[in-house]
Amino acid sequence: MKTPTRTIPLSRPFLDEREEDLVLEVLRSGQLSLGPVIPRFEGMAADRLGAPYAAAVSSGTTGLHLAVRIAGIGPGDEVITSPFSFVASANCFIYEGAKPVFADIDPQTLNLDPAKVEAAITGKTRAVVAVDIFGYPCEIDQIEAICDRHGLALIQDSCQALGAEYKGRPLGSGGHMAVFAFYPNKQMTTGEGGIVTTGSAEHLELLVSLRNQGRADVDGWLDHSRFGFNYRLSDVHAAIGIAQLEKLDHLLSMRSAAAARYHSLLADVDKVSTLLPDDADHRRSWFVYVVKIASGIRRDRVIAYLEDQGIQTRPYLPCIHLQRYMREQFGFHEWMFPVAEETSRHTLALPFYSAIEPDDQERVVEALRSALA
Ligand SMILES: Cc1ncc(COP(=O)(O)O)c(C=O)c1O
Repeated sequence: MKTPTRTIPLSRPFLDEREEDLVLEVLRSGQLSLGPVIPRFEGMAADRLGAPYAAAVSSGTTGLHLAVRIAGIGPGDEVITSPFSFVASANCFIYEGAKPVFADIDPQTLNLDPAKVEAAITGKTRAVVAVDIFGYPCEIDQIEAICDRHGLALIQDSCQALGAEYKGRPLGSGGHMAVFAFYPNKQMTTGEGGIVTTGSAEHLELLVSLRNQGRADVDGWLDHSRFGFNYRLSDVHAAIGIAQLEKLDHLLSMRSAAAARYHSLLADVDKVSTLLPDDADHRRSWFVYVVKIASGIRRDRVIAYLEDQGIQTRPYLPCIHLQRYMREQFGFHEWMFPVAEETSRHTLALPFYSAIEPDDQERVVEALRSALA
């Protein structure tokens, strides 16, 4: 009889007694939402990210939506983003009736190519949503200069990049709104949740009001100064976030070590290439470990083989513009963004999380080697 193989998951959060203790404290306090844990969490996050202000929200997607709304984007506007990202990078402004315009990516960084962004600007362009894909900082200085030249709002989708640094500064410290996400596959988690950082006190006031049904500071519970949403994070989730922020440096260094282990294990595996290494200006925060499988290899067969060995992988990421609703609603099709599409056809996310065992990484790489042979 075949011995059942233990599954190595694609991702797994790292939690210990500290999360349990802090969550229990909130539960026992009786104040599960709009309590004191939220500003504590926000203060810690702002400090860690070098941001003047931070507002906690219910997810990365809702944070992006609020940023878009504060930028005043609406029907008839165009917003430029990367086709090689998660759908929320575009959905956040489609919610407001704006039209998605994609600019192709750089084949090395896999982030927006600033020259392609500039070429995509029209008279209707109002904003750029710049994404730090796979935790690698995008060329935000160049993109910001383009936005300044053309009078566009800049929103940074750093949902995959908590802890990454650009030119020695943490993402989130740039002054424009940047959004981070805390789904359990991320560097740190709150279960569901997100945070928006900003250098503007006015943005902060709007974020706090819009996430709370449009109530302003001066409003009573049933008074609403503006049209808003319920995008609040609960104190229970924020308690998890505090425990995670306390150990964030440890989580990030475990992830870097795991990435370095994969890197050396994969060094002699043919037909696989790995992500761009850091340089002086770009310090990646390891979110996923993605490899590029050589052309001519059937990625679906590699995935099926690994699945059979109890190893979870994912074709990551599918291009946004090729999602069915995008084709149907906006008429996007293949060959529009060749670099993103080429990349997307060959990239594969391997099991990756803070506490992944070295033995499991060896098992993954050996199985991948056999699959490719
Ligand atoms: C690039 C990017 N943007 C936005 C999001 C949305 O975050 P959430 O799932 O917390 O809504 C994600 C989530 O994975 C993401 O990867």
